[in-house]
Amino acid sequence: MMKLHIYDTREAASEAAAALIAETVQALPAPVLGLATGGTFVGVYAELVRLARTSGIDFSRATTFNLDEYAGLPRLHPQSYYSYMVTHLFGPLGLRPEQCHLPDGSAPDPADECARYDALLAQAGRIDLQLLGIGHNGHIGFNEPDHALRSGTHVVELKPETREANARFFASPEEVPTQALTMGIGSILQARAIALVAFGADKADILARALAGPITTDCPASLLQTHGDVRVFADAAAAAGLGALTR
Ligand code: GLP
Repeated sequence: MMKLHIYDTREAASEAAAALIAETVQALPAPVLGLATGGTFVGVYAELVRLARTSGIDFSRATTFNLDEYAGLPRLHPQSYYSYMVTHLFGPLGLRPEQCHLPDGSAPDPADECARYDALLAQAGRIDLQLLGIGHNGHIGFNEPDHALRSGTHVVELKPETREANARFFASPEEVPTQALTMGIGSILQARAIALVAFGADKADILARALAGPITTDCPASLLQTHGDVRVFADAAAAAGLGALTR
């Protein structure tokens, strides 16, 4: 089942998404969160940190698993997803290192690292709430459009359009890594609940394809239509193409 939460502004949508994360953490004795990165989540995490401070939400029982990481970047590279998470969430919330998991993009053997990550996920048992952004080509995590998709954590070749979209965070386009490690579609779809967040007019077409178009590996996010509990948080600009779904 898909539930749409559409707001006039991205700030309002970020507040609603952050409130869902906070509720999940408060409701469960040992919450497991699946975390995402990207520009979309900067405001969501800022709001979550604000909520945690004002409402005293206890994150000490939470475990987190990030979706993905660039391959070949040192962990502390300013554009690694590890650095992003420390800056926007782990640091401000004061999470302990052992609570927070990301694939290590600098691991000498990426295949081993993917297996290690899948073993950790299996040990955690389930993800209670998986956060997702969406790429302009329909990728979720770094699961890029392809003729087939993988279930578990794996190494992917980034598409030129993905490297271009993410070049804004790097000093030059050549610095954007060509590969990444990402959780697979199987792991994402096993989450108990999923929150998909999308902002801005540039996401309107792909959001409509993902939510109302055919289910196809050409648009990995369209597989979310097969999941029983997906909540979509969007601003009006990103939701502009949803037409019939919003009525
Ligand atoms: C990135 C990440 C995704 C993210 C997406 C959109 O490449 N791997 O997890 O959801 O692209 O990013 P943004 O929020 O910056 O538009």
